Amino acid sequence: MKKPTIIFLSICFLFTLTSCAGQENTVQQSESESFISAENEAEEPSSDNNIDSIAIDATVDTEEDSSSHILIAYFTWADNTVVDDPESVDTDATTSASVLVPGNAAKLACWIQERTGGELFSIVVTEPYSSDYDECLERAAEEKAENARPELATHIENMEDYDIVFLGFPNWWYTVPMAIHSFIEEYDFSGKTVIPFVTHGTGGLAATIQDITAALPDSTEILEPIGIYRPEVDEAQSAVNAWLDELGFSDKTAETANTEEASENTDKSILLIVDGQEIAITLYDTPAANALYDMLPLELTFEDFNHIENIIYLPEELPTEGEPDGCDPDIGDFCLYEPWGNLSIFYQDFRESNGLIPLGHIESGIEILSGMTDDFTAILEKQTE
Ligand SMILES: Cc1cc2nc3c(=O)[nH]c(=O)nc-3n(C[C@H](O)[C@H](O)[C@H](O)COP(=O)(O)O)c2cc1C
Repeated sequence: MKKPTIIFLSICFLFTLTSCAGQENTVQQSESESFISAENEAEEPSSDNNIDSIAIDATVDTEEDSSSHILIAYFTWADNTVVDDPESVDTDATTSASVLVPGNAAKLACWIQERTGGELFSIVVTEPYSSDYDECLERAAEEKAENARPELATHIENMEDYDIVFLGFPNWWYTVPMAIHSFIEEYDFSGKTVIPFVTHGTGGLAATIQDITAALPDSTEILEPIGIYRPEVDEAQSAVNAWLDELGFSDKTAETANTEEASENTDKSILLIVDGQEIAITLYDTPAANALYDMLPLELTFEDFNHIENIIYLPEELPTEGEPDGCDPDIGDFCLYEPWGNLSIFYQDFRESNGLIPLGHIESGIEILSGMTDDFTAILEKQTE
């Protein structure tokens, strides 16, 4: 299973991801516009465009090198704050909604992952920001003024394995959150390709791209960024796909990678159907996963567990002999938790856990499970061609 080796410093730093949706590529800047007032967010973003002045290069030759290892690293407020009572968050207020997972940058990251098959990585600081908008603004302003480097809680051990890094973040105070500088300075980006994706309020991309360009080595190739205006994020998947097409990440990239993988093993495709929506899952070629495959179709009632995973109990036990003692689940991993006998779908990242046996991985549709904290019934069935 291809995955980045990530050190999790603490159980408290659970990553996010999920949900995707789509529209319009907004690449603009407006220094004077306020992003603080929620009312202002309803305004159309300015049409100024500061991107033309930046040396933005070519496209990625994914045809030639479909084996490029792609990392999708992103910073989002929702993964960097603690909300004591998510129920109390007013999701109609633009400012408050950002504290609920998945954050806007995470939504974009998810769509990039769906198209490119890259590995997701949430940049998380050791000291979470306040979930209060004004307090968060204040700390972010101080960090910018001090040119601070907030300490990071999440790290990538094998950065050398990635040659393409999609780097996502919100516009914070007309630039990148300072944690992005902490991230950039932690690794050697020489010779890598960096592809920024930005979400913002009425201020557009502002100085974000210039600032990361200045922070990255000269030998880093920086490709055309995408900027998505906050109120348009949920409708932005088609814009993200169009941008990825332009960059050379056609649908075929993921398909080729999938075909190559399929020819190497006998993984099986299954579907989880929730309210008529399909979530595609690849089951690995292991005794436990094969036994599950043989049980299908099944109607199952999932429940939420700790806002991290959806779990269900199977009518029969799966064989676990010879399976690994545990694993470190990523977002989208489909596992058996052997001590309790339940299946788990991780819609949040989680720590290395004993007794967790990988069965497969969600290929598409994980956003459907986003925020499904109530019980739900779903059909798990074999995928027919
Ligand atoms: C601390 C802070 C500073 C912000 N500064 C700006 C800004 O300067 N310009 C702007 O357009 N939007 C600004 N925003 C709005 C965010 O860029 C926007 O809400 C973004 O979609 C949030 O993405 P996220 O959910 O991934 O964190 C700011 C938001 C916060 C929390």
